[in-house]
Amino acid sequence: MQFGHFDDSNKEYVITTPKTPYPWINYLGSENFFGLVSNQAGGYCFYQDARLRRLTRYRYNNVPTDVGGRYFYIHEAGDYWTPSWGPSKKELDAYECRHGLGYTKISGTRGGLKADLLFFVPMGETCEVHQVTLKNESKQKKSVKLFSFIEFCLWNAQDDGTNFQRNFSTGEVEVVGSTLYHKTEYRERRNHYAFYHVNAKVAGFDTDRETFLGLYNGFSEPDVVTRGKSGNSVASGWSPIGSHCLEAELAPGEERTFVFVLGYVENPQAEKWASPGIINKVRAERLIEKFATSEQVAGELAKLKQHWQNLLSGYSIKSSDEKLDRMVNIWNQYQCMVTFNMSRSASYFESGIGRGMGFRDSNQDLLGFVHLVPERARERILDIAATQFDDGSAYHQYQPLTKRGNNEVGSGFNDDPLWLILGTAAYIKETGDASILDEQVPFDNDASKAASLLEHCKRSFDHVIKNLGPHGLPLIGRADWNDCLNLNCFSETPGESFQTTENREGRTAESIFIAGMFVAIGPEYAALAELRGQTTEAARVRSEVAKMSEVVLKHGWDGNWFLRAYDFFGNKVGSKECKDGQIFIEPQGYCVMAGIGVATGEAKKALDAVKERLDTKYGIVLNNPPYAEYHLELGEISSYPPGYKENAGIFCHNNPWIMIAETVIGRADRAWEYYRKIAPAYLEEISEIHRTEPYVYSQMIAGKDAVRHGEAKNSWLTGTAAWNFVAVSQHLLGVRTDYTGLRIEPCLDKSLSSFTVTRRARGATYVIRVKNEGTGKVALKVNGSAIEGTLVPYAKSGETVQVECSV
Ligand code: BGC
Repeated sequence: MQFGHFDDSNKEYVITTPKTPYPWINYLGSENFFGLVSNQAGGYCFYQDARLRRLTRYRYNNVPTDVGGRYFYIHEAGDYWTPSWGPSKKELDAYECRHGLGYTKISGTRGGLKADLLFFVPMGETCEVHQVTLKNESKQKKSVKLFSFIEFCLWNAQDDGTNFQRNFSTGEVEVVGSTLYHKTEYRERRNHYAFYHVNAKVAGFDTDRETFLGLYNGFSEPDVVTRGKSGNSVASGWSPIGSHCLEAELAPGEERTFVFVLGYVENPQAEKWASPGIINKVRAERLIEKFATSEQVAGELAKLKQHWQNLLSGYSIKSSDEKLDRMVNIWNQYQCMVTFNMSRSASYFESGIGRGMGFRDSNQDLLGFVHLVPERARERILDIAATQFDDGSAYHQYQPLTKRGNNEVGSGFNDDPLWLILGTAAYIKETGDASILDEQVPFDNDASKAASLLEHCKRSFDHVIKNLGPHGLPLIGRADWNDCLNLNCFSETPGESFQTTENREGRTAESIFIAGMFVAIGPEYAALAELRGQTTEAARVRSEVAKMSEVVLKHGWDGNWFLRAYDFFGNKVGSKECKDGQIFIEPQGYCVMAGIGVATGEAKKALDAVKERLDTKYGIVLNNPPYAEYHLELGEISSYPPGYKENAGIFCHNNPWIMIAETVIGRADRAWEYYRKIAPAYLEEISEIHRTEPYVYSQMIAGKDAVRHGEAKNSWLTGTAAWNFVAVSQHLLGVRTDYTGLRIEPCLDKSLSSFTVTRRARGATYVIRVKNEGTGKVALKVNGSAIEGTLVPYAKSGETVQVECSV
């Protein structure tokens, strides 16, 4: 069943009912100011950090779901309603929500009045613009009142939701004409405030929640709205809100537009006050003037659309498969940008409080956005590297506002360091900017302990070698990619964190997954060392990698697939000898991507075992059979009921590793079959089962052993976005940047007879026309002349290169 449809020409998903199987959301903002908005106008916004600079409130996991947002209530002759359907839930004659790139439009009609809402964050500004157009579509004159509503968060979202003994007494506002200023804690250490403005004279306002709603009402029936009259309340403590009341007389056919600005302002310490106790509003006034008219709004929206047009034109495809085209050209790349902006901090599954930026997550996300915003990828790499320790280990997470490692989570996830090498290599391949390797980067944010980025990569590589276990395989530490395989945790205390508790000194449990990563990513470090003339170092690295490859085949091979790990006691994990958890997806993907066993047949066997044991109609599950009971020696993985999350859920992040692995052994059919199984555009018709947005990937789809097989959770913020883009763009369609040229190696099944990819790289444009002749062998012509091999040398910036590829 569908709840909407794609509009590819406008790059929008059009939702045609407010009652989607789950709130279907979008993100606003590209630089410093961000918002989440659902198809019922739910959500919230923040400046830079979803935990520390939250502007508006949102109550997670509320009843009903998706409560709190940017609401516009309409009152007309005793009737009241909301064009987004929720929160009033009054029936609408028409409803539509269009989620576009960085903006959302919602329109609702009732009783001959149409209301169009537009939400976006303008480029370069720290505000949201909400534009409301009311149109009288009836034959009678209408006299309506429009009430805006947002609820301010007292900045620190965690404190805001817990510290009530203090927070009910700190709220402060100022009201000046049509602008409502929220200035809680500005009197002391904060130098930032928020404001909510409308570009028209108001008939009334409210800033106190209780006055607006009534103590015993929900958002569906605010006192002020049902009554049709503002309370003109000035908040003092309790819960400050922002609400304007606007009156409009509309003749038949007439329309009226209001522009609201919800902004964030920081003042330098010396310029905090206009007069004692009165905030300096100069910066707010500049923002207000910038969005005074709907023409200005239209101009800013056009700029935003142009921005996205430019970004997405870096990699685009034209083929006969419209689902493929819309994933590659629009939604997958868009999701990659959102994961760049948010990491795992704020979605409808992530509260924006718990996690900052993950070390491994951010490095992997980078693979999906480095071609979109290379300069920002550079900064991100340096930020991440600065949270590494001088022994090569790394903080598992850091806070985006402070850019400092998060002590609560600490380090000890032994895969983390290697991802830094992968991210750095991807950046240099994309840009050619090897100077990043010479950047001096602190360890643990301590400038007195700085070394070159190349040295950071060396420490990453050596961290693995210095931490080998009894079989010569890498020690797992707290966890490797799979945060829930906790082989040193041994937790018997309810609620204890599986990731941060280490109850036994962990120098025995080993990870075959990290070994696979080491073999796959080690050569990238060797190439980086060579870029800096370190040939001896590169040779050392290659010999360590070759050694590890042998160790994997000797101690990491189970007969038909790669083992997952050895536990604390030296017992096998992911072996036919195990009762549950006999086979895991991760080592099959990464070891084959590394090339282990490709020449000797193990790779093919491992991927056949994946097909047989792990594949389902909705994607590949993580392990099989699922753990039926809790295992003290395995940790969180066995805490989930069978089929969910890391216990045999379909973890969409690692499905693309299998797709890429299949291309490594040349099995295009399988690779494409796996791709289409989890790519959201192909799942649109089963939205009632899948439930999350059909335009973005989710982290997890319930596996074959789950009661709710096929149901997805944790949409938007997942490494799935980057890895599926890597899989489809670089390995299936086969166009990827390398150090000296563009590598072109499509791996195609029968479904695509031809297509054209346009790829921008290092300032030049490559138009690559691919013909699928079923040979499986790539033949290239560059500007009309045949070339040997699959590498198209980089052209000069500004040039357009025509490539013909037959395969
Ligand atoms: C984490 C990843 C991890 C994955 C698998 C996600 O929630 O963000 O870092 O690799 O789970 O455990």
